[in-house]
Amino acid sequence: MADRHPSQTLLTAVQIQTRVAEMAREIRHDYPDGLHIIAVLKGAFIFLSDLVRNMDGNVSLDFMAVSSYAKGTTSSGEVRLLKDLDTTLDGKDVLIVEDIVDTGLTLTYLQDILRARGPRVLRTACLLSKPSRRKVDVKVEYIGFSIEDRFVVGYGLDYAEQFRNLPYIGVIES
Ligand code: IMP
Ligand code: MG
Repeated sequence: MADRHPSQTLLTAVQIQTRVAEMAREIRHDYPDGLHIIAVLKGAFIFLSDLVRNMDGNVSLDFMAVSSYAKGTTSSGEVRLLKDLDTTLDGKDVLIVEDIVDTGLTLTYLQDILRARGPRVLRTACLLSKPSRRKVDVKVEYIGFSIEDRFVVGYGLDYAEQFRNLPYIGVIES
């Protein structure tokens, strides 16, 4: 399994860079007073770093690390918090930055616990979305690309912890 390599490029580095810059402009426009970004480790780290480098003005960052308890190949929706935030969210204009929304269970869990901490605004940006896989109707205000039901790697996303370093998004055939 772990020796599988991406067989096909789904999104090139140039396509991703262009779209991420566009998303950054849109998000910046919607947060005129600055924003507090919460990035979900590990998958979002490259998306986050390109996103914030396309933003000017006030941007602060915090990180969360979660792990989904898998049931077979899909997440169960039960999420284990591996690293919590360093600061409070009370009254802040918050943006969650995630790599991909698949069933939506992980993101629903995260939105629920973060909303309970009293941010003034809470929105979500995901680089990728697989709408055909959704089990719960989770709200994602900013989506980079909607893709088919394929397992993808690169640009932060992994397969057995490999391929996060690829500058493009590739497909792993099942
Ligand atoms: P969800 O709870 O099913 O929405 O799962 C979301 C999480 O599963 C993401 O944050 C990823 O870590 C992981 N995931 C889902 N699809 C893929 C994929 O195609 N490649 C890599 N990771 C994925
Ligand atoms: Mg993730």
